[in-house]
Amino acid sequence: MNTIRTLALASAALFATSLVHAQNKLKVGLMLPATGTFASLGTAIENGFRLYVTEQGGKLSGREIEFVKVDDESDPAKATDNVNKLIKRDNVDVLVGTVHSGVAMAMAKVAKETGTPFIVANAGAGAITGPMCAQNIFRSSFSNWQPGYAMGDVVAKKGHKKVVTITWKYAAGDESVAGFKESFEKAGGQVVKELNVPFPNVEFQALLTEIAATKPDAVYTFFAGGGAVKFVKDYAAAGLRKSIPLYGAGFLTDGTLEAQGADADGILTTLHYSDQLNTPRDSAFRLAYAKQFKLQPDVYAVQGYDAAQMLAAGLSAVKGDLSRKAEFAAGIEKARIDSPRGPFTVSRSHNPVQDIYLRQVTGKENKLVGIASKSLADPGRGCRL
Ligand code: BEZ
Repeated sequence: MNTIRTLALASAALFATSLVHAQNKLKVGLMLPATGTFASLGTAIENGFRLYVTEQGGKLSGREIEFVKVDDESDPAKATDNVNKLIKRDNVDVLVGTVHSGVAMAMAKVAKETGTPFIVANAGAGAITGPMCAQNIFRSSFSNWQPGYAMGDVVAKKGHKKVVTITWKYAAGDESVAGFKESFEKAGGQVVKELNVPFPNVEFQALLTEIAATKPDAVYTFFAGGGAVKFVKDYAAAGLRKSIPLYGAGFLTDGTLEAQGADADGILTTLHYSDQLNTPRDSAFRLAYAKQFKLQPDVYAVQGYDAAQMLAAGLSAVKGDLSRKAEFAAGIEKARIDSPRGPFTVSRSHNPVQDIYLRQVTGKENKLVGIASKSLADPGRGCRL
């Protein structure tokens, strides 16, 4: 009798707590770039996130979503202040962001210290799902290592032996090149030169001259956003397009093709999304996105959409009560996210385990060529969870 009463009281208390949570709005702190070379990437992530929330009627697990936004300017020097404002001044319940790896690492540090749930919707910094990994930190995107590692094999199989790499000198560029080098050199190739410009510099001329003089079999590169547009156009203008094939992590040609025009035609890249997946799930997503925003979606939109799906999976496991942190995390760990890119789960260190596609630019699209690496998991080096 006592046991029955205790159980009844406990479930009544749980029901009352759920009701209280259902009445409170859930504050999502969106920290994304609204200015600078990554501005359009930030817009696509926010659009994707909002699309999923709209599809759920504006609520996740009964809680209305309220957004608090910060333009992080892709500036790591301002990142700690910006994230502290969201957490301490605005009292956000969840953090979602950002594009730049250096900014995201600062966010992860504060999220880890404060226990604030954090879903990384782009930045691929290895540290976030490596040494800095935490119960409350998840990624809906990729690790910088993943597309680079997949491309090393592709370039080796094409028969190229000597490659020059060129990228921005910061975590994303360094790690993308390291991933490429790891698989390319394992397959017998050699990276003969690693060229860099500081982020967000786009003065490529001197380095393109150096590439022409080195005469490698191919070039591997990581650039994104406005920098990727400029690099592809400068590579073509320098006359290198026909003599030295250009390969890249797919950010080189995602969300950039309108601006790159014919200069991008034929470029092969690796990424966890393609414009031509032609699955019912992706087609429905693309249609809904185009209808709501009058824009074509890209990989960043998918990552935003999936960040919202991951949040929904965690919230559903705790019926909207974010104070149940371990159960919230377990909800995401167990989820199979029905992504437009194809379904995925997260690894032990909370990074998507996903197919990496080989794509080729044809017209204004990244057309699917095949799967470069099936169910590729980031090694999560240094993560203790
Ligand atoms: C990064 O900083 O991690 C990043 C930025 C743009 C595209 C991909 C990765």
